[in-house]
Amino acid sequence: MTLQTKPRRNARMLSVGAYRPANAVHNNEIAGKIDSSDEWIQQRTGIESRNFAGPDESLVDMAEKAARIAIARAGLAADQIDAVIFSTITYPYQAPSAATEILTRLGNTHSAAFDISAACAGFCYAVSLANDMVSAGTANNVLVIGGEKLSDFTDPYDRATAFIFADGAGAVVIGASDQVGIGPTVWGANAETREAILMEPSWLEHKKANKGEAIKWPDIAQQGQTVFRWAVYEMGPVGLKAIEAAGLTPDTLDAFVPHQANDRIIDAMVKGMKLPESVYVARDIRFSGNTSAASIPLAMDAMLETHPELHSKNALLLGFGAGLVFAGQVVELPPVPKK
Ligand code: UT7
Repeated sequence: MTLQTKPRRNARMLSVGAYRPANAVHNNEIAGKIDSSDEWIQQRTGIESRNFAGPDESLVDMAEKAARIAIARAGLAADQIDAVIFSTITYPYQAPSAATEILTRLGNTHSAAFDISAACAGFCYAVSLANDMVSAGTANNVLVIGGEKLSDFTDPYDRATAFIFADGAGAVVIGASDQVGIGPTVWGANAETREAILMEPSWLEHKKANKGEAIKWPDIAQQGQTVFRWAVYEMGPVGLKAIEAAGLTPDTLDAFVPHQANDRIIDAMVKGMKLPESVYVARDIRFSGNTSAASIPLAMDAMLETHPELHSKNALLLGFGAGLVFAGQVVELPPVPKK
């Protein structure tokens, strides 16, 4: 017998929510430990300060706050969320997932829930999955969370990372729509440069170690220049493909919300894609640093706060990072929140 399936439908972002931890840490508090300076960090990255969660504030504490805002702004109750996708590389448990911890916090313990690991591209990967789930009818309302507590996995004495990474969480709800609200995702990897950003050693090294043996904590490490060159030369073409796949051109786009890794990378992508000045470019890195999977929803939320006219307009989202992996798609930005 031929199997039957549900009719395809369109999906869109219904809302966005964000949470930034209260503790703002200026470059001056970081620079001393890495023989750097506020001036160097600002010039090379555009970062002036970033937020770190407190020692008792967990990744899921932050994610829950962002999720509750997104769900309320979508005009939904928590039990109307039928799937949670949590993109993170900093949940300190292999199992069960951070997504199921979110379910318990929301008092909805029955919905589908899972985590994904695609680092700084993770939010765009999750948006792609959620779009497919809603389109195929396997879920009606998907909560997508990008959240990181990178301060737990960054060595404050590592000159290559200490000034970049930060903490925060952003969330969107993706649901059914009359029109196409999420364009095709252009994604992939350059896995031959897998080691350009990594956390090591593996947990097995800790298990194998003799009692008392000093083993390095798995902090994030990166070859900054390798990642920088890759992003600068290869991400613009990915963005252009995503714009084209959505049936747009750079001059019909309204906004660009890139992963916030480095202001100079953002400049290079804008130039490479020849985005006209009419395209609003979200630059959240100055006071947020690089929050990996959280950076795009945080930047999107801040942009809509300061530019409410961009609600329901079309934005290119583009994430890239450890793997090396990347993903971009054009989305219709969330509408003005329901009261
Ligand atoms: O989310 C995705 C993951 N990460 C990224 O996207 C990061 C991509 N990479 C970058 O953003 C940049 O490569 C960095 C910001 C990490 C570094 O900037 P850079 O312009 O690539 O610096 P560099 O490594 O080429 O070093 C330039 C100079 C060197 O000195 P000399 O040889 O020119 O005298 C370094 O020794 O800057 C020196 N340097 C520093 N100075 C002060 C390197 N790190 C530091 C530092 N403070 N932290």
